[in-house]
Amino acid sequence: MEPIDEWSVDANEALTLSLHSPTSGKQLTTFHPKYTYPIFGESETIFGYRNLNVRLAFAADNMAMCVDVNWTEQKKPVGEVVAENITETLKEYLPAEAFEKDLEGFEASLPNRKTNKPFAPPGTFLTSSQIGSKTYEIWTTTVDDPACKVLLANIQILVLLYIEGGSYIELDDEEWSNKRWKIFFLYEKSEHAGYSFIGYSTVYSYYYFSSTLKDLSRARISQFLILPPYQRHGHGSRFYDALIKHYLASETTLEITVEDPSESFSDLRDLRDLHRLETSGVFNKLTLQSVAAHTFQHEDIRKAAKMPQRQFNRCLEMALLKGLL
Ligand code: ACO
Repeated sequence: MEPIDEWSVDANEALTLSLHSPTSGKQLTTFHPKYTYPIFGESETIFGYRNLNVRLAFAADNMAMCVDVNWTEQKKPVGEVVAENITETLKEYLPAEAFEKDLEGFEASLPNRKTNKPFAPPGTFLTSSQIGSKTYEIWTTTVDDPACKVLLANIQILVLLYIEGGSYIELDDEEWSNKRWKIFFLYEKSEHAGYSFIGYSTVYSYYYFSSTLKDLSRARISQFLILPPYQRHGHGSRFYDALIKHYLASETTLEITVEDPSESFSDLRDLRDLHRLETSGVFNKLTLQSVAAHTFQHEDIRKAAKMPQRQFNRCLEMALLKGLL
């Protein structure tokens, strides 16, 4: 009998994500997941196939998607040892519509979508930036926005595939799916291709308890993701800066925190926070002595920056190392 292992495939290799042109359906780019253990278990393998290909194809604008599973050979059941039912497994994580078409049907359907008006990201426009010849826009909304729910249902799988320990936001839970979850979408906007999804972030506002001050909250960045083909182009940094600017301007947000940042996100946050403090000129007001004494002025600067104590201390340490103090 052939060894069972011969029928196990690496799930990170077998899964391929792709973005497709909304106007032609043509594949624009492909990439693989970083993690599949939340879906296929610790070993990140799928049992029972040869040359397995699991395609998660997305329309580049509204991220409507399809799942297409194919293989050259499937292991015949031996007693209780059967090939994993991949479609059933994925149904737990994806909307039902994702299983209605195969890849060919999905690609063919994109140019024929019936829409009343061209796609625009959910919610309201927040800000835009021009980088070279390209325009990027950030839109924001809350989870109770139906258009946001549809988009999130398609893209939440990205959290499992790219953020270690990431988990879904419960979209239908009354208690959570209210205005306390704010979602920010980053899109590229071009005249010929319309909007193309680049990344998104979810931010939860939780109340800041104070006997004297009312309606204040802390903003906690919960998930933050840039699609792999767009990483390392400065999008994450600019997106983070825009989120911080938004919450700095909010009169009701006292502090901006981050939930379980990954190593790469911590690096990004450190660099951007340090840059923000440096360019605001606050280091000119501080000395090594004043930092060590933890003066009122020091505390005022931290509060104005809306940084948690630990993050502010990290920035001061980095500033000391860089000789900025
Ligand atoms: N050319 C080459 N490199 C560049 C360019 C450029 N034009 N612009 C920036 N870079 C470099 C930066 O200097 C930085 O380098 P470093 O890592 O050596 O410091 C690096 O690229 C990343 O900076 P950005 O491009 O601004 O960030 P990016 O768009 O890649 O986003 C992020 C970073 C969010 C971590 C992204 O990689 C990602 O989504 N990863 C997967 C998911 C993840 O880990 N999310 C965070 C989880 S934590 C949480 O959700 C709270």
